[in-house]
Order: sequence, then C-alpha cells, then structure tokens
Amino acid sequence: MEIKENTSLKDYNTFGIDVKAHSFVEINGLAQLQRVLELQAYPNKFILSGGSNILLTQDVDALVMHINLKGISVVEETENEVQVKVMAGENWHELVLWSLDKGYGGLENLSLIPGNVGTAPIQNIGAYGVELKDVFVSCAAMELATMELIAFDHEACKFGYRDSYFKNEGKGKFIITSVTLRLTKKDHQLNTGYGAIEGELKQKGVVYPSIRDISDAVISIRQSKLPDPKKLGNSGSFFKNPVISKNTFEKFQKKHPEAPFYKVDKNQYKIPAGWLIEQCGFKGARFGDAGVHEKQALVLVNHGNASGQEILELAKKIQSEVSNKFKINISPEVNIIK
Ligand code: EPU
Repeated sequence: MEIKENTSLKDYNTFGIDVKAHSFVEINGLAQLQRVLELQAYPNKFILSGGSNILLTQDVDALVMHINLKGISVVEETENEVQVKVMAGENWHELVLWSLDKGYGGLENLSLIPGNVGTAPIQNIGAYGVELKDVFVSCAAMELATMELIAFDHEACKFGYRDSYFKNEGKGKFIITSVTLRLTKKDHQLNTGYGAIEGELKQKGVVYPSIRDISDAVISIRQSKLPDPKKLGNSGSFFKNPVISKNTFEKFQKKHPEAPFYKVDKNQYKIPAGWLIEQCGFKGARFGDAGVHEKQALVLVNHGNASGQEILELAKKIQSEVSNKFKINISPEVNIIK
C-alpha cells in the first residue's frame, strides 16, 4: 500500500481543478479499506470516487482515499432477470456497455453518465426518463464509525430526485462498496417517452428500437449537448431543476407562458434550471476560465485553469440573478467541498 504525499487531484475530478491532497492512497480491496480507515497517523480522511460530482475549492487537508474496488458478478438469475453485483470503483458507462453486450436491459437510458458505480446511489443518477432507483436492489456500505459492512435495501436508501439517505442523514458516515442492480434478460421495458429520444430514433429511422438503439440515441443526444470532461472540465448539471409549488408555478407561468416545465405531481412542478439560467443571459458566458456551457446552461465548465473558487463564485452569481429575475431559488446538485 503506497501513500503519496502532496499529490495533485487534477486528474481525479472531472472539473479538472488543480488542488492538492495532503496525502493520497488507492483502495483496491475491502481488507485494505479497513486497514486505511484504522490508520491513526491520518486522522482526517476524504473519500473520493469517480470525482464526477464534486467541486474542490481548496487543497484537501486529509488522506484522500480513492475507491478503486473492481468486479462485476451475476448473483442471481431467473429466466427473465439477473441481479448483478458491481463493485463501487467500476466506471458507470463501462457497466452500461457490459450490460448491453450481455443483452441485459435497464441501463440503456443511463448511458454515458460520468462517474463510478459507488456514487450512483448517493445522488440517484438519472437521465432521459430513468433513474438509478428503477433498477436498484441494494447496496453494501462500510460504516465509518464501526467499520462494519451494512446492507441497504431500496427503502433504506430513501431515493428522491437527485437525492438519497446518503446525501442526508447518512452523509459522511458510509463508503458504498458495491451496488446490486436488477436487469432484464427479455421483455425489456423500453423508455422512449423522453422527447429527445423519440426524435433521435425517428431521425435514425428506427421503428422497433433495441436496448442498444436506445443507448446509441442517448449517447448521440448527450454528445450533442454535454461537454466531454476529458476535453472540457465539467460536472454535468451543476444545479438541480427547482421543484416549486402549484401556487408559485401558476404565478410563474402567467408571467412566462413560454417556459418549459414538467408536472411532478398534482401539487408540484419542475422548471428546467437550464432555461432559467439561459434567460438570465449566462449561456456561453465566460469569466476568466470559469464558464457556462454554450449548448446547455445547466453545465458549468472549466476552460483550463479555473480554480474551484472561481467556479463557485460564478455559481453564486447565477443563483442570485435567477432569484432576482424569477423569484425561484436554484441549488447545486454538485457536492461543493469547502
Ligand atoms: N433548456 C434551455 N436552455 C438550456 C438548457 C435547457 O432552455 O441551456 C431547456 C430545454 O430546451 C428543455 C429543458 O430546458 O426544454 C430541459 O432540458 P434537457 O432536456 O437538456 O434537460 P435538463 O432538465 O436540463 C436534466 C438532467 C440531466 C439529464 C437530462 C435528460 C438535472 C439537474 N439534469 O437536464 O442530467 O441528462 O435532464 O434527462 O435533472 C446531470 O445530472 O448531470 C445531467 C446531465
């Protein structure tokens, strides 16, 4: 086990922010994870996974533990379904590609989401009409206080829109080590209802889509709107889409009848934050190396050497202008590390 001192984290966060870790260690197995947690010489520890949903705003004065646990195995199989246990350090999109190669359905709408499997439940990743919770069976997580592995079933995770137990009561208390998903072997439940997918399939002339066709469509849509973190640092959607009450929505709609919206339930509506931000004139804006993506205003980008502080300042400026103009508060979906 090698502990490196004073290491740059630039390659370990998709925003490409160049801050340093006081010390850094790769975690390749569960026994090693326990050993590192027990190290008294490093009282402060920081858990880092795929680095695709964090904004680092300063050097991390802790032992950074990079969760690199690997492995995919089928743990249960029936005629129609499989349950697949995936270790936390597996890359999410590589898992999606693996499932497509096996002919397993359920993950196709979640193609090309950056990050690793272990962090997928924390924010209940979602895209194009599907969320992780739709395929989730359970996860295992090591409790930091006791170093015991605890199983969390669906209910215990308290999934919500970009939300879960691990972002609330359980925050900072667990390291997710594996996730078990239920996938279909046949009679796949295709989700093509999301407008952009239908359009993409139509354009490609696909009438009866396979799971692979849906994945290909999602990949095309994402590539056309969302920047590739390898080329332009970003963390996907920086903000959550605000959910507002029916009452607030009715007043908002009177003033802005052209605004897109989704009905969540009979009392709540969701407004795309990207639209609100674009209306405030930020789409494509740039302040030094911190910017707003030119094709999707919900995505903040690092044009090269932006600091985490600069990205954070831009985020605050956007929040305040959206609030002034629309009287709607938007909050970050990205985990800001201060
Ligand atoms: N819009 C604008 N201007 C923009 C961006 C969007 O007017 O700059 C409008 C679009 O025209 C559309 C609406 O907002 O009418 C929704 O846009 P889009 O379909 O691109 O989706 P989104 O609500 O902006 C959410 C997720 C994405 C996910 C897509 C597709 C959140 C915070 N974001 O974005 O997730 O890929 O839907 O399902 O819910 C992520 O979490 O990192 C992420 C990329």
